[in-house]
Amino acid sequence: MLQALPGFRDFYPGDCARRNHVVETWRSVSRRYGFAEFDGPVLESADLYRKKNEEGAEILEQLYSFTDRGGREVALRPEMTPTLARMVAAREKHYRKPMKWFCVSNFFRHERQQKGRLREFLQFNADIIGESSPQADAEILALAIDLVRAFGFTAEHFVVRLSDRKAWMDFLQSRGCDEAACRLALACADKLEREPEDKLNAKLAPTGLSVSDLKSFIAAGSPEAFGPVLEALAARGLSGFVEPDLSIVRGLAYYTGVVFEIFDRSKNLRALAGGGRYDGLVKGLSDGSADLPAIGFGMGDVVLGHLIDETPAAAEKLRAALASHLDVFVVVADESCRAEALGLVQSFREVGLSADFPLKPAKVGKQFQEAEHLGARHAAIVGQEWPQVKLKHLATRSEETLDHAALAPKLKSQKS
Ligand code: HAM
Repeated sequence: MLQALPGFRDFYPGDCARRNHVVETWRSVSRRYGFAEFDGPVLESADLYRKKNEEGAEILEQLYSFTDRGGREVALRPEMTPTLARMVAAREKHYRKPMKWFCVSNFFRHERQQKGRLREFLQFNADIIGESSPQADAEILALAIDLVRAFGFTAEHFVVRLSDRKAWMDFLQSRGCDEAACRLALACADKLEREPEDKLNAKLAPTGLSVSDLKSFIAAGSPEAFGPVLEALAARGLSGFVEPDLSIVRGLAYYTGVVFEIFDRSKNLRALAGGGRYDGLVKGLSDGSADLPAIGFGMGDVVLGHLIDETPAAAEKLRAALASHLDVFVVVADESCRAEALGLVQSFREVGLSADFPLKPAKVGKQFQEAEHLGARHAAIVGQEWPQVKLKHLATRSEETLDHAALAPKLKSQKS
């Protein structure tokens, strides 16, 4: 039987409900922080990704790229940041600064199959453009923390590991690395936790550095640059979620300052989210026609989903949020009253209540089973007593008889 391609997902109704819940949670927290939603195209010119990345960069190796029917080299977007920088550069004069923008979109990377990594995934992005102060860094970090907390996680479950690309560049340049050597050393630093030491030492050879040099730099601790960011997070009561950790360097080339990744505390999973400051990307992609500092991050739905499933409190919170809430099921107790029952269903739906009913004749007992299965709060029983209708509250089993015209207003007022 034909199946979805490896790394791509089908979303059956339950999966869709879960995805919608995740997306709505991301949206509501972002709006609380005053971010506006935007989006861009799924297909971009492949040059958008080639321009700021060296040949061989991981993101290029993973690109779904092809030549379209017009002979253009195009790619499915692997991330949002280059699209955002392109859009901002084109219209920045239309917007007051700082711009606080978010999006929730699907992305495509030809990844090696592993837990937490798929080939199509949903990613939330939030970015602040046009502000270089540590206050913007702290605002982005606070949003990232609150997004994770919104799913029921606490500081026991996750941690933001905070680092600084600039501190890394200063260190590498002080050790005589030119631009290419810096890139190589950063790529190796990014793999310290994932690749064997001898393999990394061999890769590092052209830089004149070794794994132990990188490890000593990391062990030396927290750069002064973190001071104002950490203070701004402490003022919000969020210090407990952040740990300075220079072992974070980030795989993408465009970062220039503060960088961070969010991990589960038990270290079982890949990063939940990652981002940082990229003050040169808008300028680089627009050939200097716009020049704006920026900071942001991306959070995917895949690792987040694993962490929810593995954390009982978060899994319970999700189950409660997804519990079906049908307002009323109309039981057709007498088929000769089907037209009246349809009118009643319509009256519920017109006032904004969710209502369902059996599409074909069924025994009353079966209809009640269906109402329970759908998680209905009430059953309205339409039969010979019409225009009187019996309304049953399914959780308490209490019931009352009302005129059919009174039902929709009554249930509506109870709900609001
Ligand atoms: P990234 O670290 O490549 O950053 O991705 C951010 C998050 O997206 C990851 O931590 C992970 O949750 C999710 N993610 C990435 N690749 C996959 C995959 N193949 N399968 C499932 N989830 C995945 C960026 O994309 C940057 N553009 C973020 C950013 C925004 N930086 C500044 N602004």
